[in-house]
Formats: sequence, structure tokens, C-alpha cells
Amino acid sequence: MVAELTPAWLRCEYLVDPLGIDVAHPRLSWMLESSRRAQRQSAYQVLVAESRERLTASEGDLWDSGKVPSDQSAHIVYAGDALRSGQRCWWAVRVWDGEDNASAYSAPAWWEMGLLCPEDWQGRWIGLGPGAIDGRSDVRAAGPAERNGETPRLLSPPSPYLRRSFTLAETPVRARLYVTARGLYEIALNGKRVGDALLAPGWTDYRSRIQYQTYDVGHLLHAGENALGAVLSGGWYSGHLGFAARDKHYGDQPQALLQLRIAYADGATEVVVSDGAWRGTTGPILSSDLLMGEEYDARRALPGWDMPGYDDSGWAPVSVADRDAVLLVADRAEPIRIIADITPRVVTRRDADIHIVDMGQNMVGWVRLRVRGAAGMRVRLRFAEILQPDGAIYTENLRAARATDTYALSGRGEETFEPRFTFHGFRYVEVTGYPGDLAPDALIGRMVSSDTPLAGTFACSNEMVNQLQRNIVWGQRGNFLSIPTDCPQRDERLGWLADAQIFARTACCNADAAAFFTKWLTDVADAQAPDGAFPDVAPLVDLGDVIDLSHGAPAWGDAGVIVPWTLYQVYGDTRIIERHYDGMARWLSYIGAANPDYLWVNEHRNNFGDWLALDGDAVENPGASGTPKDLLATAYYAYDARLMAHMAQAIGRVDDADRYDALFRAIKAAFVGAYVSDNGQIAGDTQTGYVLALHMDLLPVHLRAVAARRLVENIERHGWHLTTGFVGVGYLCPVLTEAGYADVTYRLLLNDTFPSWGYSIRHGATTIWERWDGWTDERGFQDPGMNSFNHYSLGSVGEWLYRYVAGIDIDPEHPGYKHILIRPQSDGGLTHAKASYQSIHGMIASEWRVKDGAFTLEVDIPANTTATVHIVAADPIGVTESGRTVDDAPGVAFVRMESGHAVLAVQSGTYAFTSGLAARP
Ligand code: BGC
Repeated sequence: MVAELTPAWLRCEYLVDPLGIDVAHPRLSWMLESSRRAQRQSAYQVLVAESRERLTASEGDLWDSGKVPSDQSAHIVYAGDALRSGQRCWWAVRVWDGEDNASAYSAPAWWEMGLLCPEDWQGRWIGLGPGAIDGRSDVRAAGPAERNGETPRLLSPPSPYLRRSFTLAETPVRARLYVTARGLYEIALNGKRVGDALLAPGWTDYRSRIQYQTYDVGHLLHAGENALGAVLSGGWYSGHLGFAARDKHYGDQPQALLQLRIAYADGATEVVVSDGAWRGTTGPILSSDLLMGEEYDARRALPGWDMPGYDDSGWAPVSVADRDAVLLVADRAEPIRIIADITPRVVTRRDADIHIVDMGQNMVGWVRLRVRGAAGMRVRLRFAEILQPDGAIYTENLRAARATDTYALSGRGEETFEPRFTFHGFRYVEVTGYPGDLAPDALIGRMVSSDTPLAGTFACSNEMVNQLQRNIVWGQRGNFLSIPTDCPQRDERLGWLADAQIFARTACCNADAAAFFTKWLTDVADAQAPDGAFPDVAPLVDLGDVIDLSHGAPAWGDAGVIVPWTLYQVYGDTRIIERHYDGMARWLSYIGAANPDYLWVNEHRNNFGDWLALDGDAVENPGASGTPKDLLATAYYAYDARLMAHMAQAIGRVDDADRYDALFRAIKAAFVGAYVSDNGQIAGDTQTGYVLALHMDLLPVHLRAVAARRLVENIERHGWHLTTGFVGVGYLCPVLTEAGYADVTYRLLLNDTFPSWGYSIRHGATTIWERWDGWTDERGFQDPGMNSFNHYSLGSVGEWLYRYVAGIDIDPEHPGYKHILIRPQSDGGLTHAKASYQSIHGMIASEWRVKDGAFTLEVDIPANTTATVHIVAADPIGVTESGRTVDDAPGVAFVRMESGHAVLAVQSGTYAFTSGLAARP
């Protein structure tokens, strides 16, 4: 018999058919599809072949795993022949089901290796030569800055345009272009833009590691003359980033490095590289900067510059520099792309010269503008998240980020402008100098994001909660730009570690963020200080005397442990633990060395505390939340030790696991001694104090219930409102639910009075605000020095929506959703909730509804996984599945009654449960 299991969604290193990876032993994953219940894989066989033909002939000439008895279908490590640079590997898998019936082989998939060693790179770094930048003094003659009485200032040097042509004797059969830049690049071959990656090569610490991208360009080449063209910008490399609008963090001039490798039918190969044969000039991009914006003068366009036959005799030779020891690494995550086009909602005319465009959504990216007018007319676009009461844009909270794009018309019919090397966080666009009326379709919003595939959906019977979920997702997408950033609009946009750690689990519910975080964790590792400290931000930036970010504060540096742990939980990834194990161990030693008594009281560095909480003196002074900072730090230290113990266990380091477990117990004892009273009161008596102690298991068993009670009393004292900052907010609802207070979590969730998620939504939020009090009825805007309207941290409630409201959760003993917990909490103000989640093992779904006194729960459990389902019920007799008793339903077994719920063991498949509603326990 043939197995009723079909392997599908074959991925290598989390990506479908990745081009140009540099992992020596890549990991292979698949999911299994079946229309029957209770399906599992009992064995698999992977074939990896040099060619598609061999693979189709079932020949694994690179690797044939043979039949491996195992139910593992994720992270199978390639164990075949050593792989070469540029090698294409075709692969397929078949599986055996529980009855030992084999499936057919899957459809073929592939991966391709990038350039694996430094010697593979023959090109050199090229940039604008000295002769190319003259004649620029005229370009600012009549800019909008002058019209508005501002001082004209070059925001950045003009963008280099680099080109060379080359002749091929015949049309190649295959070609790969490997490209990177110190700065940002866009590349064209024979006039066609190569790939769709934006803001490439992405942000890393360019002093230690630079990513390159690989493109398949065979179809763009032909016999005869061909041309390569690259446009560059400073981007994260030499442009402004971080606060105080400093630039030149890693270097001062953008440069490109590229290599085009061509193969002919007879097996001959040829390379074209970046070298002294290239020529450069400046063109229409007068300046471009991530924070400041882009200035484009269409009169200076260079028509045909990236085509063969273009006369570049007026261009100057490029400057050429040798490669240094900095690592060139294959980009391992999804590129930044346009992920949506946003149509404006309203266009209003403020005066003769100014239109205000409302995109209807706080978004990240830029706009594409269509315009007709006379040569030299300038249209200026300024971007803002919010309007002032008089209808003008509010830009104070952008601080030094100018967020201004300018377009000077060529005067040749209808023109289209779209910047390439900047991005803005905005809902409103102020358009100055547009000739005539601005029709709504003249402008379109271009939403950009690291293109992490969406993996989750959540919706429920409350529209405000649905808006909250949308706000969380918009905030995530807009702030995941090569790295997880804090905010997209002001002069900051840094990879703050606390923001990332508190939001990581939520992020992984909404999207497949495995490749994205795997990449960012190398940024964190690159930024680890020699003494073992993880930083506050990664990639690390040097902000001089403004602030030293090299040694992470409590809850910030700890991301170096918590994010690998999260990836292990969500994706079952043990390699991420192995790769970062020593770094994590060094972080713990760093804290331990300075704090021999187990209380983390020294080395707090920037010590942000429960950032932006509303307790203590925090309302006036963001750093002064009521949660004692030593307590917060010690809780995180304990948590790190605990997670390390689990992670050591997961990779078989049993002695370490014991050692970290002992460390955890010692810290816990010190914590209890220092901060916990016999009556269960925790020092500071703040919500975050209780939340951390409960979440991180820092209380003696007999005090857990009373501490939870105190937390609830605290919430009650605040009129049933939360007061937590960044550090407490993500765990607040999970802790309350676990302690039996689901009803309290629903009160917090459904509030729309201050402070609450609902309050921001009632005031029009379309993303998560940085602060609970970003705007209040009483005092209007918070301090513009720190008031972003698109910061995801307070959106870390999102994981709770999936895990507890819809009820899809991980069993920590079987990470990667190999065994799934379905435990919806239906006793709140909702009558319906549903979520779906594309796990590494396939699609999981949970949808419940309370109607006419009955509770229904529909569940999808992917093949080759199992689940424990909790369904509210007075007794097991009251539960049915598709009209059958639980005993008669295939794939279901009753396990026990627990707290007013029937607990069922469920095999893979689709199920529809019904139960008469039981009273709450
Ligand atoms: C950032 C935060 C960050 C914090 C450190 C802020 O300016 O926007 O999100 O975590 O600084 O406290």
C-alpha cells in the first residue's frame, strides 16, 4: 500500500529553494500532508543529487540517507559529500507511515551554495573615483529648503552610478551574480533591475561581517555587448542612524563588490568582477539617506546608462580598494521587499501649495508619485505619523530625522518618482509644490518589510481586539527591516535587544521569523563585548559620548539568551543553541563575576528598568518605574540560568544543565531572600515585579497563589488597569491566565480607558504606540523627545492571543509544535476566537465559539504531530466529536478531567468538538 502521507513544503535552512547559502551542512525540513487522521512518519529517506535528472532517476549521488527510522521531519542535517562553491543540490524526500507504507518521492527541491571561501571572490571594492563628483554646486540652486527659509545642506553625498560593459562570445547557459556593498546597492543588467531586494545587502556590523546576495541572471545575458550598472547609497554603512543623527558609523563612501560568473554550454566559464575597468559618475540622486530622505533631480537622469552601447567616456575611472579580512557571508534571510501598496484614504488641500495625504494606516516605506509639470519644478514630500490639531503634520517626534523626499521634474510628460535608498514611518504625507490638484491616485504608499512569510492569523468576536491584532502585525512588519528595530520614523531605528526579546514569541506567531532572527543573532554575537556582555543594540553602533550601548542593561542583554531559546521552542532548532552556546555562557559568567552573591546588583549599565511603565515616578521620568531595578535584573539573571539549563539539556550537555540548574536555584534563593516577604509581597509591589517572579518561577510554591492574588489586587487598585512597561507587559496576560485569572486578562484586553491597548485604538492607533500615554485626552502628546507611534514592544500581548485566547501553544517538552497544546480560554468577554498557525510541521488551527449554551471547538493538527486538547466540559460524556462520543471518535482519547476541562489526547487530523457549557471551576 502507498502511504497516505505526502511530503510537501520542502525547505533548506528555513527557505524554499535558497540561492546562495554558505552553511556547510544545511538542514532540510518538510511537512506532511494527509486527508486522514492519526498519520505519522515512521521513517524517511532523503536523496540529494547533482542534477535534476539524477534525482528524478532516484539517484542520490551527493547523499542518500537510506531509510532512516525516525519521526523527525525538521532540521535533518545534510550528511553527504562536501559541497563546493556555486554547487546546485537537488533533493527529494519520501516517508513511511505508521504501517510502514512508503509514500512517493516529493516534488524536487534544491538549494545552491554561495561563494564559500574568501579566495572565491576575485572582485575588488569599487566606488566613485575622485574625478566624478565635480560640477555639483549648481544642483541646490532653487530647492524647496530655500523656499521654506531653511538652510540648504547636503544631507549626504550624491549616489554613485557605476557601470561597465563587456562582450560575450556566445549566450551563456547559466550565470550567477554575487553582489554586495558597503552601503546600499541596486543593480541592473542590460537595463533590467536584478532581483527585487530593497535596501540590500542589509544591515550587519560592516566592520566584521557583510552579507552578499546571489542572483540568477542567465536570462539577462546574451552574445555580444552586455552592461552591468550599480547605484549606491550610504545606507546604514555611512548614512545617518541612531540618535543625535550621526553618520559615517562604519565608513564614509559607499562601495560595491560584485562577481558575475558565467557558464557556457561547453563547460567553459568566465567571470566579470568589480575592478578598475568600471567607470563612475553621479546622476539624479542628489542625496539619499535612511533617516533624512532622498533628493532626486530628474533633469540629471542618465537614460540608458545601464544598457550596452551607452557612451560613458565622460565618466571617471572608479576608485578601487582591495578586499580586507571582513567576512563576506551569504544573506540567509528573506530580503526586504515591497509587501503591499497602500491607496490613500483622503487627500486634503491645506493651502495653494500644500496637500496632506492620509494613507489611513501608519506604515513604513515611501510613496510613489505621479506628476506632470515644467522642468525644474520641485515637489517636496514630508512624512509624519500624526497630525496636529490644526491639521498640519506633526514632526517633532521625528527628532533629527528629516524624513523628506524631493523630486525635481524633468518636464517630459508624466513622470514617476519613487525613492530607493530611504524609508519613513508615516501615515500622513505633506506634499508641497505639486502642480495643480493632487488626485488620490497620483500617489501610492509602498509598504516595505523584511519579507518574513506570514504564518499566523488571529480573529475574534471583538472588533477592537481584531484591530489590536492588526496593529501588532503592522508594527512587526514595519519594524522588521533587515533587523528588528525599535521604531521606523525618528532618528533611532536601532536593533534594541529588550524590544526584540519581549516581542520575539509574538513575532514568531505572526510570521515565520526563523531565518530573520537567525541572521540577527549573528549581529548580537558580533556585538558581544570581550568581557562577555551582550549589547543594548545589535548591530552595535558607536554613539560616542551620547550613550555607550556596548554592555546591555538587564532585560536588554538577556535577549542574547532569550531569543535563541524562543527559536528553539518555536522551531525546535537546536543548532541555534549550539552556535550561540559559548556566547550565552560568557554572558552568564559576565553577570556572575560581578555579582558573586547571586543578586544582579552590579553591571547594570544603562539600567532602563521596566521601561515606560506607569508606576513609580515613571510618568514623568521614563527610567524611574516602581519596579526595583535590582529585582528586575536578578529575575532576568535567574531566567537566563534556567533557560541555559534547558538549552544545555537540549543539546546533550548534561553536566552544564545541572550546573545552570544549581545556579538558577541559588539565584532564586537570593531573590526570595532579598525581595519576597513571607506574606507573598514582592519588593516594590508593582505588577511587573509579580509578573516576573511568577513567570520566571522565582517564588516558593506556597507563595505562588498569594503573589498572583496580590498582582490581581494591584490591577484592581488601578481600576482594573495595567501599569507595566516593556519588561512586564509580554508576560502579564500569560501569567494571569496560568494563575487562574483568565477573567482579569479579558478585562485588561477589553479596556479602552487609560492605560490600555484599547485606549490607543479608541484614539485611532493603527500600530502599537511606544508609550501608553503617547497621546492622552488630558495632556495631548507626550514628550516629543521620545514618542513613537510605531513601536512593537507593548504589542507583545500578541503571543497571548494565539496561545491562550485561541489556544494554540507549544509543549515545551516537544518544541517546534511537535506536540501541540490546544487550550483556549473561553471564559471572558468573547464569544468566538480563532487562530491558524503555519508551524514548521504544517498548519495548526483552533476555532471556538460559544453559542446557545454550547461550546464548539474546531481543530486542525498537522500530520506527524499530536496534540493535547483541553475543552471546557462538566464531564467527558458531555463532549462529542463530529456527533460521536469521544470514545468512538477516531484519533481521540480521553485522558482526564482538569479544572473544569476534559483533557483529550488527539492525533493528527481535523476535528469538530462540541460540549455543553460547564460552570467555571
Ligand atoms: C528605544 C527603545 C529602547 C529604549 C531603551 C528607546 O529610545 O526606542 O525601544 O529599548 O530606548 O530604553
